[in-house]
This record gives sequence, C-alpha cells and structure tokens, in this order.
Amino acid sequence: MADIICVIGNKGGTGKTTLSHMLCQGLGLLGQRSVCVLTDTDREPLDPLNRRYLTADARTHEALGKVMDKIRSLDAWLGVVDGGGNRTEMDHRLYGLADLVLLPFRDSHEDIRTVIRDLERFPRAYAVPMQWPTNAWQRETANRTLNEFLAPYQDRILDPVAALSASKVLLQKQIPPGLPTALGNACRNVSYQVIDLLQLDVSGEPVSPTRRQATTAVAGQAEVASVKAVNAGGQVLSGMRAPRFPAPIRFGYGA
Ligand SMILES: Nc1ncnc2c1ncn2[C@@H]1O[C@H](COP(=O)(O)OP(=O)(O)O)[C@@H](O)[C@H]1O
Ligand SMILES: [Mg+2]
Repeated sequence: MADIICVIGNKGGTGKTTLSHMLCQGLGLLGQRSVCVLTDTDREPLDPLNRRYLTADARTHEALGKVMDKIRSLDAWLGVVDGGGNRTEMDHRLYGLADLVLLPFRDSHEDIRTVIRDLERFPRAYAVPMQWPTNAWQRETANRTLNEFLAPYQDRILDPVAALSASKVLLQKQIPPGLPTALGNACRNVSYQVIDLLQLDVSGEPVSPTRRQATTAVAGQAEVASVKAVNAGGQVLSGMRAPRFPAPIRFGYGA
C-alpha cells in the first residue's frame, strides 16, 4: 500500500507546491515512485514529461477521493498531495488521510506565527523551513528567530530547504530534460528526510516484480516518456518514465 504525504498549511506562498514537487523529484532520483497530486483550484496541472514522478489532478472533492484510492492501491508508491492554502477544511481532510504531514514556512514572523498554530492544530505534522537564506549573516538571523520561537517544537522541524532560484523550474508547466545539479541535490536532501520519517527501504535494489507490475499498471510501458493511466473511474494519473533506479549524482546539468 502506498504512503500518502500531505503538504499543507493555512497560508499561501509558503512553498507547498515547490516542496511537493521537489520531494517527488527527489524521491524519483532515489528510485522511489511517486505521484504529485494537485488540489489547488487556482492552479493548472503540470506536464509530467521529464519529471521523475507522475502528476495527478485532484482539484475537485470527487477527484481527490478517486486519486487517493488509486494511489493507496499501489504497492510501494508515494502520493504527495500539494494542499491549496487558506482552506482549513481541506487541510483537516488531508491531515486525516496522510501518513506524513509537512508544513512549509518561510523566514518571516507571519509564517512562523502561522506554522506554530498549524503545529498545534496538527500534532503529527512536521514543519519544513523553506527558501532558507543562503547568505551566512541572513541565515544566522533566520536560525536565531527559529530557535527563539520554535524551540518547543524542535523535534518537529526538518532541515531547511535553501533558497534556490532553480526550484522555480519544477513549477513550470513543462520542464527541460536536464535539471541543474544543485536542484537535484536539494530534492534528494528533502527526500532523504521523508524517507527516514516513513522508514522506507531505499537500498537501491532493482524494483521487485510487484512494484514493476504496479508501474506497468499505472505508467504503461517502460521508458515511455509520457503516458496516461486509466482506472475504472477514468484518467487520474499521468506521466512518468519507468522503471526507475537510483540515479548517480552527476555534476553540471543532468541531475
Ligand atoms: N526553496 C525555494 N527557493 C526559492 N524560491 C522558492 C523556494 N520555495 C518556494 N519558492 C518561491 O516562493 C513562491 C511561493 O512558492 P509556492 O511553492 O508556489 O508556495 P505555495 O504553494 O505555498 O503557495 C514561488 O515563487 C516559489 O518559486
Ligand atoms: Mg501552491
């Protein structure tokens, strides 16, 4: 059965969509199969071509149920649900169905106040510092603010995701075949933490026959660049070349 990760939080612009896609890309680079699930009605679905994961459109209540059922039925897959923000009811629904809940927040007092409320409201959730300053002085100030306000929650704060302008590429409707190495590494780093929290086995062994079957069921033929999967309820998942194995760390473009 698949694990479901929900990226939520009662504030827009914290990095939910960026984190969701970075996580899926990182999981793909580490040989894990995942689906990034869109729930934000103000956003358009992104083209799965060249991504290391599938994408699914679950912008209606009904579609979300259908997509979740489909993902849950897949052995050893991960579903990453990108929550919409400013939708408390939706966040509660997603919290209820998730195995792991992530709350991205940025280095601002407003974000920190909001994430504290969300950490209280969602006791199983972990906070993820997003867009963290890379400049040493700014980072020190940001870390000091974090220590000051989030000390009681220190066991529930993951390592920061640094500000990385290349992360915008993953939010493009279509992405190029090769992504900057720095982006691939940042995606891997966040994925490792999630893999740890979910205690997943990522030994890099070739995918087992059951997992391969699941891939075939969802993604069609291996090495097909972009495919549509149809289940009883209609088309719910799209895209992904498969099967995947952990990719070596490369330098320059191509991660
Ligand atoms: N780690 C990051 N580095 C650089 N920019 C980021 C990072 N995370 C998010 N952003 C930028 O912040 C803005 C809001 O991010 P987004 O993921 O769309 O937030 P949300 O989905 O919560 O509304 C976007 O312009 C995005 O490119
Ligand atoms: Mg978003």
